[in-house]
Amino acid sequence: MLIHSATQLLTLTEEPQRGRNLGQLGIIANGAVLIRDEKIVATGTSAQMRQAYPDEPLLDASGCVVMPGFIDPHTHVIWGGDRAAEFEMRLEGKHYMEILAAGGGIISTVHATRSASIESLKAQTLPRLLRMFSTGTTTAEAKTGYGLQTATELRLMKALLALDEEGPLELAFTFLGAHAIPAEYKDDPQGYTDLVCGTMLPILQLWWQTHAPNHSAPPFVDIFCENGAFNLARTRQVLEQAKCLGFPLKVHADEFENIGGASLAVELGAVSADHLVKTSAADIIALGGSDTVAVALPCTPFGLAERDYTPACAILDAGGILALATDCNPGTAWNESMQFVIALACRYLKLTPAQAIAAATINAAHAIRRADRIGSLSPGKQADLLVLSVPDYRHLGYRFGTNLVRQVIKRGRVYSVDVGYYRTA
Ligand code: NIG
Ligand code: FE
Repeated sequence: MLIHSATQLLTLTEEPQRGRNLGQLGIIANGAVLIRDEKIVATGTSAQMRQAYPDEPLLDASGCVVMPGFIDPHTHVIWGGDRAAEFEMRLEGKHYMEILAAGGGIISTVHATRSASIESLKAQTLPRLLRMFSTGTTTAEAKTGYGLQTATELRLMKALLALDEEGPLELAFTFLGAHAIPAEYKDDPQGYTDLVCGTMLPILQLWWQTHAPNHSAPPFVDIFCENGAFNLARTRQVLEQAKCLGFPLKVHADEFENIGGASLAVELGAVSADHLVKTSAADIIALGGSDTVAVALPCTPFGLAERDYTPACAILDAGGILALATDCNPGTAWNESMQFVIALACRYLKLTPAQAIAAATINAAHAIRRADRIGSLSPGKQADLLVLSVPDYRHLGYRFGTNLVRQVIKRGRVYSVDVGYYRTA
């Protein structure tokens, strides 16, 4: 299939876009892209491509931007129940960590998740995945983390593997058994940390070999490094054990306080450090000199109505690799749309639309170690693309709260997005 006549075809780059180099979109005006067998074959101008490939079925993208699908590298998309009542409590002045300390927050979602069957968890999660897909996300990372006991954490992982299998959204997997201290270990956080290290991670390693035969890469291991969750010493204990077992690492760092999670992520060679709201100048320098991707989650301060956002410009000045994600979760940020993330990033992280788009595609692919397959329109990569019903890429960021996607193409298959027109007879 030849997608042609795109007002702008955004090809991006294969390399991560580091520091001030962020924002290289590789624009081809009046562009075309050839797709065969789920893969991208070639890109060029429409004139060149129509001449070189005269017999292909055509998809006319006149007036549209064509670009790689968004990659959402940080989500907690599988959970049971909701926390609408806590949203109201926060509006009335209670702090997120205060609600968690009182047995609510993440712990209240853990209750709802533990009592849900795998079928119910899948049924609750599927509409969220479809909202991601229809707003242009073609691959998303998904974390466990609302089980906090071995069996439930593995049930969540099993449900995620099944949802990935069923598609159309493709998932990357993360084990977040260290998301919070569960109620039964309230007075023994060290005991729970030892359980994660001594029982959960070794079981996960064996479990993965038998339950995920299609996935050669092991899942990521992530942890919520924060006062009130896992302190720095316990974070180090979990991450060192995970690393020793061969898991690639991710860290929730500096969401509310700076306790050193970002520097630890760099020291241990984590694939990403995420949140980074209260990150110190020294930690920004450390990130900037590393290959650890800095994942900013602007929906989280927005969802919590907090003032501070990730110091993205300082991270770029330090030479860091910046990516964007939704953090989709029931507590701080129930939002599935990377388009909305880009709109927030332009306003509160001071990114240009071009920078935000690169952070939501190629750099996001690097944040989940999938840049060999996705994140740019490079020949040989998966044909995961978007046709946007806008003539200029800057409409991403500029416009918000509506869906600008006309078609999502996943592994070469075209899905049309209903733009919601109503016609009377
Ligand atoms: O990334 N901070 C930890 N985890 C999530 C929130 C999870 C929840 O509140 O349910 C986050 O913001
Ligand atoms: Fe998170």
